[in-house]
Amino acid sequence: MPQNNFASRKSKIAGIGMYVPPNVFTNLDLTKYMDTSDEWIQERTGIQERRYAHRTNETTTTMAVEAATIAIQRAGITPQEIDFIVFATLSPDYYFPGCGVLLQRAMKMKEIGALDVRNQCSGFVYALSVADQFIKTGMYKNILVVGSEKHSFGLDFTTRGRNISVIFGDGAGAVVLQSTEEDNQGILSTHLHSDGESAEILAMYNPGTHANHWMETPVADFNEGEMGDMFMSHAMIDHAQNFPNMDGPAVFKKAIVKFPEVIMEALQTNGLATADINMLIPHQANLRIAQFVQQKLQLRDDQVYNNIQHYGNTTAASVPIALCEAWEKGLIRDGDLVCLAAFGSGFTWASALLRW
Ligand code: UT7
Repeated sequence: MPQNNFASRKSKIAGIGMYVPPNVFTNLDLTKYMDTSDEWIQERTGIQERRYAHRTNETTTTMAVEAATIAIQRAGITPQEIDFIVFATLSPDYYFPGCGVLLQRAMKMKEIGALDVRNQCSGFVYALSVADQFIKTGMYKNILVVGSEKHSFGLDFTTRGRNISVIFGDGAGAVVLQSTEEDNQGILSTHLHSDGESAEILAMYNPGTHANHWMETPVADFNEGEMGDMFMSHAMIDHAQNFPNMDGPAVFKKAIVKFPEVIMEALQTNGLATADINMLIPHQANLRIAQFVQQKLQLRDDQVYNNIQHYGNTTAASVPIALCEAWEKGLIRDGDLVCLAAFGSGFTWASALLRW
């Protein structure tokens, strides 16, 4: 197993920010578009409402700018002092280039490196881990780590897509990572995992380079102008293949095993126990998953923070949004042991243990 403590230098979260669009979309609002109910959604997911970005004026990048501006300000630096960006999202403004460069441009940063991370629900914890390594090696001083999602632009708002579309919401969270000399502060370890065996059960297949089963036309028979259809075609839209797919129960079953596992891995690596956790910030996938994890680890209510009730599942943004909100409410104090944990599409899962 890789060791996280190869260097004596540690990284700490020096500033944190979040942004959610003002537009609140309740469960009742969803019933206008699909056969669902407030009762079903609350009972199965805990979600009461979510935020949807403005259709044209807000993008994944503009929301990231809002969150990053606050994080940078709270770190007591300027955007020009950021020397690296790690941006996690599954809903980028463009298929390419990634949102990292768009954020660099929007915030008028120097010509720094910008890396996009595509690890969906565990994207932020992966991104944090990447940034942590760059701080530990001394390569960079101020790294901006962002998770931002605009899901509302690409969900199937019909009864066909109800198992997915009721879950997701929009928003962004960001942190500035800096090095620290303090013994009792900073990221203690990060733990990253994947198992691609079930990659397709929570996935959006298109646009992509995989072969599509309904495309049986041999390439040699294509007419002029049809070649590009391999990437995004009318057939894909006709088969609703321009939306995410999810086998919810299968994801649920795996999540409730991997969440506790990766949290325990973080604790054991540092010789700590669940009783030492001051605050667990689980990825906000489903309140029932978080409650199952809490019960399994025998954590008290005050040791776990959930806000999925108000924001839904914001994928890569959920951990930094929940962390920021918990901190703003005074629920995380200096010296507290904080555990971040996530599980999602890939499957990928990850944790980070830190002293605030
Ligand atoms: O962060 C990304 C990772 N994703 C997750 O962690 C998701 C994990 N999975 C889940 O959260 C849950 O599986 C869901 C919330 C997605 C679904 O809840 P469930 O309790 O597993 O329901 P189900 O998929 O087994 O569906 C039960 C019934 C079905 O009807 P029938 O076949 O029993 O008649 C569905 O068609 O509920 C129906 N259904 C709905 N009914 C009303 C599915 N979605 C809805 C809906 N409103 N939105």
